[in-house]
Amino acid sequence: MSEVHHGVGEILIDEASVQGRVAALGVEISADYAGRDLLLVGVLKGAVFFMADLMREISMPCEIDFMAISSYGAATDSSGVVRILKDLDINITGRNVIIVEDIIDSGLTLSYLMRNLQAREPLTLEVCTLLTKPERREIEIPIRYVGFEIPNCFVIGYGLDFAEKYRNLPYIGVLHPDLLAGTPH
Ligand code: IMP
Ligand code: MG
Repeated sequence: MSEVHHGVGEILIDEASVQGRVAALGVEISADYAGRDLLLVGVLKGAVFFMADLMREISMPCEIDFMAISSYGAATDSSGVVRILKDLDINITGRNVIIVEDIIDSGLTLSYLMRNLQAREPLTLEVCTLLTKPERREIEIPIRYVGFEIPNCFVIGYGLDFAEKYRNLPYIGVLHPDLLAGTPH
């Protein structure tokens, strides 16, 4: 069992389980895209950690690129109105694209992103998310690859932050209730 860090209420998914699931997703993606071109699009910053591990579990050549986006409106709850802070460097027209996300909550951010990328006419566009909170979904999105379904709680670690901290935890933890006062959930 990993050491529980300050700020963590409990460990939801331990390090070995995270790594095992990421490896399995890599195998699945490698099989699905065998013999085809593949571009992974990561959403900064949370997806960086998942993306780095996932890519090393994919056995054929693939490329990565990143986007940075920010929600307009309330800082805490997703409004679905999204501003692109950093766009892709690579032209995705005619490419097989997988959007790599850390977590899908309401789904509003991803829904915007999918419409935006679809308009650039990729050959295929799919989503791979490490975590999903189905209870919180406000808009249905087809998600091809899911690491774990989790309950409606605020999680940190393995890329996920609370006020920009805790991304470096090697496991997925539930934020300690003492810190929860400042979160939307
Ligand atoms: P959505 O538009 O509501 O799906 O917002 C998704 C974004 O909200 C994610 O990319 C995260 O940045 C953030 N988020 C949602 N739930 C959590 C959580 O439990 N921990 C940390 N960040 C979260
Ligand atoms: Mg965040």
